[in-house]
Amino acid sequence: MVTNRTFTMIKPDAVAEGHTGAIINMIEEAGFRIVAIKKVQLTSERAGQFYAVHRERPFYNDLCAYMSSGPIVPMILEKENAVADFRTLIGATNPAQAAEGTIRKLYAKSIEANAIHGSDSDENAKIEGDFFFAGVEQY
Ligand code: PPS
Repeated sequence: MVTNRTFTMIKPDAVAEGHTGAIINMIEEAGFRIVAIKKVQLTSERAGQFYAVHRERPFYNDLCAYMSSGPIVPMILEKENAVADFRTLIGATNPAQAAEGTIRKLYAKSIEANAIHGSDSDENAKIEGDFFFAGVEQY
């Protein structure tokens, strides 16, 4: 078993509707240790940099506008098998397809306003965590 890290953001819809505490509780109950956490609001340009890998996709502009529409809560998390276990905890991108008991099934409203992000690889977890947190903030 490998102890490693993933990166997440609680998205604007879930923060605005007051689900931050409940979602953090689910994350800790699932065995993740919070390595870094803060509350920030991205500019559309900064959201575009974060999601640059998706810039050719039809929803890119909407995604950037949505992700800069209100505060978000980025976090770095640590656990054995963190990336895969966290994606299981949050459920499918489209909440209509998310499994019962997952964060997106409970709190997501749509494929865009889907409550939470989870990195898709160890490599991206490191890149995404470093996007938001300086080294001295990761402990
Ligand atoms: S994933 O998790 O990367 O496999 O999901 P993917 O389908 O590739 O989607 C990447 C991110 O884009 C968001 N998304 C959308 N936003 C707006 N409209 C539509 N139709 C749409 N489809 C996907 C999705 O929530 C993913 O965001 P993150 O933050 O990576 O979860």
